[in-house]
Amino acid sequence: MLDQPEATEFAVLRIGDQEIQLPIIVGTEGERGIDISNLRKYTGCVTIDPSFVNTAACYSRITFVDGERGILRYRGIPVEQLVKSASFVRTAYLLVHGYLPDAECNRKFSDLLNRHSMLHEDMRHFFDNFPHGAHPMHILSTMINALSTFYPNVDSLSMSEDIDVSTARLISTVRTIAAFAYKKSIGEPVVYPRRDLPYCANFLNMMFDSPVNPYEIREEAVNILNVLFILHADHEQNCSTTAVRTVGSAQVNLYSTISAGMSALSGPLHGGANQAVIEMLKMIQADGGNVRKYIDMAKDRSSTFRLMGFGHRVYKTYDPRAVIIKEECHRFLETMHCKDPLLDIAMELEEAALKDDFFIARHLYPNVDFYSGIIYRALGIPENMFTVMFALARLPGWIAHWKEMIGAGTRITRPRQIYIGKTYRKED
Ligand code: ACO
Repeated sequence: MLDQPEATEFAVLRIGDQEIQLPIIVGTEGERGIDISNLRKYTGCVTIDPSFVNTAACYSRITFVDGERGILRYRGIPVEQLVKSASFVRTAYLLVHGYLPDAECNRKFSDLLNRHSMLHEDMRHFFDNFPHGAHPMHILSTMINALSTFYPNVDSLSMSEDIDVSTARLISTVRTIAAFAYKKSIGEPVVYPRRDLPYCANFLNMMFDSPVNPYEIREEAVNILNVLFILHADHEQNCSTTAVRTVGSAQVNLYSTISAGMSALSGPLHGGANQAVIEMLKMIQADGGNVRKYIDMAKDRSSTFRLMGFGHRVYKTYDPRAVIIKEECHRFLETMHCKDPLLDIAMELEEAALKDDFFIARHLYPNVDFYSGIIYRALGIPENMFTVMFALARLPGWIAHWKEMIGAGTRITRPRQIYIGKTYRKED
């Protein structure tokens, strides 16, 4: 159970003659929230906050984001430290359990990941029935939902297995499903996971090894994948995590719950933006590289075009993940002796946008998706797999939030509304 902090001050709300006191809750980082959970009981009023722009939906101990100062910490540890010292697997453990594993815990967890990396053989046939050209993100969310038919007892009420086993199975099989989906899409035989390879190396091998063209696993590729996965591993109450918490609050099976999160992530305004960024950069390239034209289009209210990979609901400064990814992108491309003209366009676009009054006034900066796609391209990952990569990385975060929510005994999520439709009338 998460202990709710005690209120030390109160806000006073006056409605007509009635005056009530609302507790002000202060988080460990000084964030202040007015607790309105009893508002309707005492006043008959609800609050209105479409798209939850101003609503804290839960208490959480997992991730801290300060959008004004550009801070992101998992369980108190800045991501800048984690990318230097931890692997994705250790970061996943940190998010789910609250502490970095020691050598023994890490060995046990890695062993669990290995043991649960195989996909149930019956599931392999499912891949044959998706239409040609199906988006891998939709294949992935469907397959994860299908896992609930193999493991029906993984829900908050009948949770009959250890959380470590469910966590390991999810993190590990999702990687296998993603690589299988890719192999199927290019008509190559699937490559099974290998016991001797760590998480990221194993994934790259499943993606790119083939009987006629053995894949050389380069340390630089494994390292950069670890960095990208660590930076995407959690981001508190974003759209997909909110979907996970909302669906999970109905005591839905964990796999179906995660599948709902994946569906939310697939949207171009959320995780789908990394693919959309590359499509946008290619479009600008094909159009002669005129970045000004696209900046103007993004500002034009009569156009639906937006600069993909720009802007964020929470960050009103440079996204700290984008700072690291931009730096790593340059370093990685240089190490791999890879020149990508899209990187030049991206930098030009960023420079022009950051000088433009429209973007300055709205605090629009590059987000996590702006440079990540350029790294994925250099790794040989096709564009339609970019959001799948995001999903693999976000799993530990979703699981951590699900676990925290279940542990807190959360009630079912059920917002209210203000009805503005027709009042009672007779049929015409
Ligand atoms: N390009 C041009 N204008 C933008 C952009 C953009 N990328 N983002 C926001 N704006 C403008 C809006 O038009 C709006 O202007 P207005 O006040 O004159 O109407 C203002 O900035 C505020 O934008 P909202 O859409 O209200 O901001 P919101 O917080 O609802 O949306 C979002 C955030 C979805 C990320 C938005 O910035 C966007 O669409 N960005 C592009 C898509 C993208 O990169 N998504 C990935 C986000 S990171 C992630 O989910 C992993």
